[in-house]
Amino acid sequence: MSDGAVVSFRGVTKKFGTTTAVDNLSFDAEPGRVVGLLGSNGAGKTTSLRMLLGLARPTAGYATVFGRSYQYLPDAARRVGVSMDGIGELPGATGRGALTTWARMLGLPKGRGDAVLDRVGLADRADRKVKAYSTGMRQRLSLAVALLADPELLVLDEPANGLDPDGIRWLRDTLRSLADEGRTVLLSSHLLAEVEQTVDDVVIMQRTLRYAGPLSDLTSDGAERLEDRFFALVGDGTEGKAHV
Ligand SMILES: Nc1ncnc2c1ncn2[C@@H]1O[C@H](COP(=O)(O)OP(=O)(O)O)[C@@H](O)[C@H]1O
Ligand SMILES: [Mg+2]
Repeated sequence: MSDGAVVSFRGVTKKFGTTTAVDNLSFDAEPGRVVGLLGSNGAGKTTSLRMLLGLARPTAGYATVFGRSYQYLPDAARRVGVSMDGIGELPGATGRGALTTWARMLGLPKGRGDAVLDRVGLADRADRKVKAYSTGMRQRLSLAVALLADPELLVLDEPANGLDPDGIRWLRDTLRSLADEGRTVLLSSHLLAEVEQTVDDVVIMQRTLRYAGPLSDLTSDGAERLEDRFFALVGDGTEGKAHV
């Protein structure tokens, strides 16, 4: 692992025409932490993660992984595991087939797919077609793809979406054990209650940064819920609620 922050945003701004989707966003994700990028729908979370991964270009500022721009990071596809809508989806394949394809593309041994299937709890459904998977099963498969190359950093866009309570518990335990292995997790979510017990640090954004720091500094011993603090920081006015 590198010494400094695993992920850094510095003054990152993204404009789409006259709309500013992300405005002067700065924060760090430290090694071995599970960091939640939290905000309502439309807050700019996915756009921020896309800029981190070189899929969108900032209008101003920059974001780095392991101290470099993603596109200049050696071995980036193996060091950074990504789960995001539209990335790595092979709906016509079976779960196992999709993982085999991705393992081959990443230059990994064939058996790697089975190892990650086990880890995400899909081993018994691996030979079903992905298009027949439920949303929760797709989330698990997407995490399996992200884990294939044994990455140091996981970037997960809305990994809690579509999970039932068992799935939420599974996600929490899995991300915790990944962080305990020294990996860093940066996840986005608009589902505050679902990720409250999963994250160590929170970055709250509503186009601009509203808070970055340990969850424990924001909520005192569970006496205050994240949700209450969240609405105090972002307001609950015209830009949509944190819950769909
Ligand atoms: N490619 C795009 N072109 C124009 N507007 C976009 C584009 N991508 C995102 N936006 C806008 O940027 C804002 C932030 O979107 P997004 O990053 O997807 O938010 P979140 O992931 O927090 O829900 C929204 O107003 C959205 O409509
Ligand atoms: Mg999004």
